[in-house]
Amino acid sequence: MWNQTKLTETLDIKFPIIQAGMAGGVTTSEIVASVSNAGALGSLGAGYMDPKEMQTLIQDIKQKTKHPFAVNVFVPETPKHNPEQIEKANKLLQPFLNDLAIKANDGEVPRVFEQQIDKIIEEQVPICSFTFGIPSKPVIDKLKEHHILLVGTATTVKEAILNEEAGMDAVVAQGSEAGGHRGTFDRPFENSMIGTMSLVPQTVDHVSIPVIAAGGIMDARGVIAALMLGAQGVQMGTAFVTSEESGAKKQHKEAITTSTEDATTVTTTFSGKPARGIDNQFIQEMRQHENILPDYPIQNTLTKGIRKAAAEQNKPHYMSLWAGQSPLLSQKTSATDLLLSIIKDTEVILTTFNNDS
Ligand SMILES: Cc1cc2nc3c(=O)[nH]c(=O)nc-3n(C[C@H](O)[C@H](O)[C@H](O)COP(=O)(O)O)c2cc1C
Repeated sequence: MWNQTKLTETLDIKFPIIQAGMAGGVTTSEIVASVSNAGALGSLGAGYMDPKEMQTLIQDIKQKTKHPFAVNVFVPETPKHNPEQIEKANKLLQPFLNDLAIKANDGEVPRVFEQQIDKIIEEQVPICSFTFGIPSKPVIDKLKEHHILLVGTATTVKEAILNEEAGMDAVVAQGSEAGGHRGTFDRPFENSMIGTMSLVPQTVDHVSIPVIAAGGIMDARGVIAALMLGAQGVQMGTAFVTSEESGAKKQHKEAITTSTEDATTVTTTFSGKPARGIDNQFIQEMRQHENILPDYPIQNTLTKGIRKAAAEQNKPHYMSLWAGQSPLLSQKTSATDLLLSIIKDTEVILTTFNNDS
């Protein structure tokens, strides 16, 4: 059976499909539970979340599903807080702040990671996934002591090997088509933009943990292709952003459903870290300043008010519209129906293929 892989066995799920944890409110408890109830793996994107708020959402998910689900967190980075650089960045952001009639902030970023890990353990979350690096050994050991399965993110073969060596139970191979932030941590991102088609089979050949393909996968064709490349499962982000249960802003959903394959770009302008999203006025005007902006997560905090006010004031040209390179395949449907159609289509395609050959 196509759906039974080492990944489904490891994670105790029925179908080798993961709905990506997407920070910033996209992954509501409804979407996580719908996906897990359908036999795939729902993930709560808790990256920026206050630990208490995260705990409430986890409890909510547990009310809605008895099936495994994951919580996705960001391995923390602590760039130097340079007040002069922050002032300069805020000057560059001033025209946008003025247009939205809001004030600048000081770029202070609260550190939430350790408390998030404690809450994940307290709530006995079955699976914890990471991006932006590999957590420290004490954090890994602590989670493992509590029998929590760990999933890392890699954008190169070397990063996948590092994840395996650190003790991850599975690794996401994030191709350059992927929407949202690059999970790159080992080399400059420019050297780590490997397409899913190249990244997956080469990663599979170099690690023994299950590899999860991510980047540009939106339907049954993508799932089958990933499995043929040796992946034990897929992780899909953009396809779920437009689903009914997703908490994405309506402008974000609409931007994806009306977008095309050539409309995205990779930018550091919103957060200080490279991320793929639909190109817009904010990115175009800030692009020339990219190399003087503060690093992630400071720049992310500086643009927080702009992104929020832009959504409230219906100015999508100032919003971060994260999306991968396959928006023409996006659908306006429920997460459950999306999964059911992927499962049905996968079976039809595989049967037709077998009968024809
Ligand atoms: C809106 C959005 C937000 C994302 N946020 C996260 C996140 O918080 N953590 C994470 O590990 N990956 C995040 N990703 C990346 C996904 O894990 C995955 O690599 C990507 O969505 C795969 O490509 P696709 O969008 O073409 O399916 C995000 C992706 C999108 C589209």
